[in-house]
Amino acid sequence: MDYSPAPESPDLAFEWLQKHKAGFGLFINGKWHKPKTAKVFKTVNPASGQKLAAVTEAGKSEVDTAVKAAKLAFPKWNALSGHQRARYLYAIARQIQKHSRLFAVLESLDNGKTIRETRDIDIPLVIRHFYHHAGWAQTLESEFPEHTPLGAVGQIIPWNFPLMLLSWKIAPALAAGNTVVLKPAEFTPLTALLFAEICSQIGLPPGVLNVITGPGETGSLMVKHPDLKKIAFTGSTEIGRLIREQTANSDKKLTLELGGKSPFIVFEDADLDSAIEGLVDAIWFNQGQVCCAGSRLLVQESVAEKVTSRLKTRMAKLRVGDPLDKSMDMGAIIAPIQKKRIQKLVELGQKEGAEIWQWQGKLPEQGCYFPPTLLTNVSPASTVAQTEIFGPVLTSMTFRTPDEAVMLANNSAYGLAASVWSENINQSLHVAPKLKVGVVWINCTNQFDASAGFGGYRESGYGREGGHEGMLEYLKQKNEPSGTYKRLALKSVTKHSKTLNTELDRTAKLYIGAKQTRPDSGYSLPVVNADGSLAGEIGHGNRKDIRNAVEAANKASGWQSVTPHSRAQILYFIAENLETRADEFRNRLMKLTGVSGKQAVLEVETSVKRIFTYAALADKHEGLIHQPPMRGLALALNEPIGVIGIVCPDESPLLGMLSLLLPALAMGNTVVLIPSRPFALAATDFYQVLETSDVPSGVVNIVTGDALELGTVLAKHDDVAGLWVTGTTEECANAKKFSSGNMKIIWTNDGKQLDWFDNQQSEGREWMRRASQVKNVWIPYGE
Ligand code: NAI
Ligand code: MG
Repeated sequence: MDYSPAPESPDLAFEWLQKHKAGFGLFINGKWHKPKTAKVFKTVNPASGQKLAAVTEAGKSEVDTAVKAAKLAFPKWNALSGHQRARYLYAIARQIQKHSRLFAVLESLDNGKTIRETRDIDIPLVIRHFYHHAGWAQTLESEFPEHTPLGAVGQIIPWNFPLMLLSWKIAPALAAGNTVVLKPAEFTPLTALLFAEICSQIGLPPGVLNVITGPGETGSLMVKHPDLKKIAFTGSTEIGRLIREQTANSDKKLTLELGGKSPFIVFEDADLDSAIEGLVDAIWFNQGQVCCAGSRLLVQESVAEKVTSRLKTRMAKLRVGDPLDKSMDMGAIIAPIQKKRIQKLVELGQKEGAEIWQWQGKLPEQGCYFPPTLLTNVSPASTVAQTEIFGPVLTSMTFRTPDEAVMLANNSAYGLAASVWSENINQSLHVAPKLKVGVVWINCTNQFDASAGFGGYRESGYGREGGHEGMLEYLKQKNEPSGTYKRLALKSVTKHSKTLNTELDRTAKLYIGAKQTRPDSGYSLPVVNADGSLAGEIGHGNRKDIRNAVEAANKASGWQSVTPHSRAQILYFIAENLETRADEFRNRLMKLTGVSGKQAVLEVETSVKRIFTYAALADKHEGLIHQPPMRGLALALNEPIGVIGIVCPDESPLLGMLSLLLPALAMGNTVVLIPSRPFALAATDFYQVLETSDVPSGVVNIVTGDALELGTVLAKHDDVAGLWVTGTTEECANAKKFSSGNMKIIWTNDGKQLDWFDNQQSEGREWMRRASQVKNVWIPYGE
């Protein structure tokens, strides 16, 4: 027996389109704008190729008007109480709920995805997101007492989940007290425009939300606009990288949710039938146009044949066709250009040796469709195993051991999500932390919830959407650094000592892999005391030294598996050993920087206290357990970033350096440190403390030399995962720009002067957060 058609009526959506005469302006300051001079473009239904509506393209002047409206609306919106903002978010949720059928149909028409998905997945998640964030608005003052919103923010979203990604962006932004300019994707603007109308119906104050439509150029104008305090982007890694480079020169906050090539790992002891159903949801959900699609099947060799043959049987039964037919599994591809891209990649895969198996059903004659496709015999290095195809194409590979599965899974520039299938929970929970991804689904896939932060590792981007961590992306600390950072001028020796000081014969070496090493260049640089006398010499580190230091830091990755308790013990030991040498450091600081004895003592004492703080926090920056609306839990684990490159400040050379080093170590990261150039001896003295404190080899590496030159090498190094830079505006911009290659998680002082003695600014949980990234591990329970 076959299914008979069960079409959902599109009438409701067409009535709404007709009400607007199928022509839309821009939603700015609570009103519709149709500038006479602006260009228009059409949005079509991918399932038929038919035009749905004409939409306005926002150019420079429209973008300016929208940003101005958001900027002007900010003070009043921010001045409302959390409760008042909560009411608006709550009203939005209710209103979407009321119009959910219209939203579901319109989304399906504009995007080509099935009504089954928009009705049962997208729209319910959108509603849940606004309710959840009404809660964050309500509790903002008590939950985030040290934070304030950013101002007017810009949000750019893609076409694969138009309304869902809109909600992921708008709900936290408004809950935190920001105002918004949002640009939907050019292929799918309609539900965002309907959403704008809903906001105006519930009386959201004008200017709080502005929706402008247009192509990439419109997005680009937003990215470059000086009055937007943040850009939140979801889309391709290519554009994400461009945006990072274009915002490098500003202090705009940036979160990027980019592409993926997520592994779907099936162990031999998995419930294979469930795993196959899981695969259907992983790769054929939304025609595979999902950033976290399980597009790389890794199956244990012993069950590979069984899985492939059962999968083909299941694939043959998939129903592909009219998205408004309620019994369809798969609808249309967004646009011919994407279909061509998918086709080209599949052909390339075949050329590279993959075997193809495709769904044999009949595709509709009109519209943009692509059959469910399986590529087997794919080699891990081939294009189709590495490139995001963003279509209904699954590539399959095999592995023998759990270690090999992990290695293959991590053999990707991306790191968004992974699915792990095994009936052995011990094995799954052993594998989950080893996967370099933001989400791990155990025996499930494509699960989302407003309470659980979503986002990637590596080239899948950074920042999280949803939950507590998602809110923090739209807030900043009240006590932000101010004042302009200035590098100290290098002194030359003006005072020559008459007696030869034997201390001076010693050039402080570099510290790499717990060894004092000579710099590759063979050269040294002078360090001059405040009084103009020569303090000593440091090694002139170069590119090669940085490479060695990064290698040592990567080898020391076992530090992240050391228990937090043991890490804390080692930090306490560092504090103790620093204290033992307090006089030595005091003298060094006085001589080098010229501060008073009292000030030098304060710096050493504050340093010791700061180490204690991070020893204390090492075992307290714990994760959360989310209870999403499923029979299961999502464990939000705080994980280290990996190797962090740190460029230290000049001022307060001991305290400044430790304020950056310690949170990184406490979280389990390993570090390549570039100390202040003029006061580098304060750092090289410190490695004697490290040597006596049981810090494992390679956990801390110190390379002295020119901060800008060495910082640039670190920024460009692909085996460095995080970068923290204190420096001038120009140094910070360079760091952001040069580190876009592998999308390092970056923190800079944005050219501002931090007060290293201020505990609120320079120590505590905010720094532990900077030193970590959240991974959500979803664990369903029950039979
Ligand atoms: P895209 O990254 O170009 O577009 C995403 C959004 O960014 C759209 O709103 C677009 O108008 C805007 N945009 C484009 N250029 C911009 C610029 N220079 N500055 C600011 N905003 C800009 O993605 P596109 O072209 O739609 O798809 C290309 C490929 O990207 C897909 O085949 C897929 O591989 C990947 N992609 C991944 C997504 C994900 O969620 N991971 C979502 C969409 C696309
Ligand atoms: Mg469309």
